[in-house]
Amino acid sequence: MKFTIPGFPEEVSEAVELPDFAELLTYPMFLRATPETVRSHGTDWQRMLLELTPFRHEHPYQSVTTGVHIQAPGYRTLVGPTLASQGPHHGWHIDGSAAGDHLTGAERVYLMESPCTSLTQFNELPIEIDVDPAVLEDRSRLIRHITENASSLGIRGRAIPPARIVTFTNHLHRAVVPRRMEFRFFWRARESHKDAPLPVPQSIRDDVCAWDIADARYVVQIKIGAGTLKVSFPDPSRGSSLESAQYNEVF
Ligand SMILES: [Fe+2]
Repeated sequence: MKFTIPGFPEEVSEAVELPDFAELLTYPMFLRATPETVRSHGTDWQRMLLELTPFRHEHPYQSVTTGVHIQAPGYRTLVGPTLASQGPHHGWHIDGSAAGDHLTGAERVYLMESPCTSLTQFNELPIEIDVDPAVLEDRSRLIRHITENASSLGIRGRAIPPARIVTFTNHLHRAVVPRRMEFRFFWRARESHKDAPLPVPQSIRDDVCAWDIADARYVVQIKIGAGTLKVSFPDPSRGSSLESAQYNEVF
């Protein structure tokens, strides 16, 4: 059965001027927050990004996940391990919260990232897949098929333009391993038919974390409070799992 996966996402904003990271780190960060939560708890600049995001209101739920990521070659990105050692075609996937979303493009995402070496990659051009319907309908089987045949299908990754909002649905994309340690500002607004936003206070965060790529342990946590900055590292002598890790405060 033939199916076309869309190519590069559409730019829907002009270039956005980003504040310095020293300022961005003091902003509240949001996890699947409602636009209303961002509007009432965010900064003027975050409210401006909300205005720039052209929600289509085709689905009942809108949410925003945004903040600063700490990126480094050995750190896990937001979406899980991306290991260059898995080969040149590692990490390709299609988003969606329900079975079949990869075929319908039912979920829409608006994404913006600051200039960095780990900009999300999308496949450059639309690709036509011709597979058994059972493979097509099963997202993980389809992804496996695409990954295993990436060269013959002509999959070619291209980074999104930095500091511009792009929009996509069932486009093929992947996280990229950064080439150096860096901060990355991330704005991801989503329109979903299934996933409701989180309520306050769960949707408001005040910390920036990074996890080890191999075993998902914390490697660093930065927490900004009222007039305070706390940087914490796990103490290898006291516990190793995510739940039991202990931290040495260095500030
Ligand atoms: Fe994704």
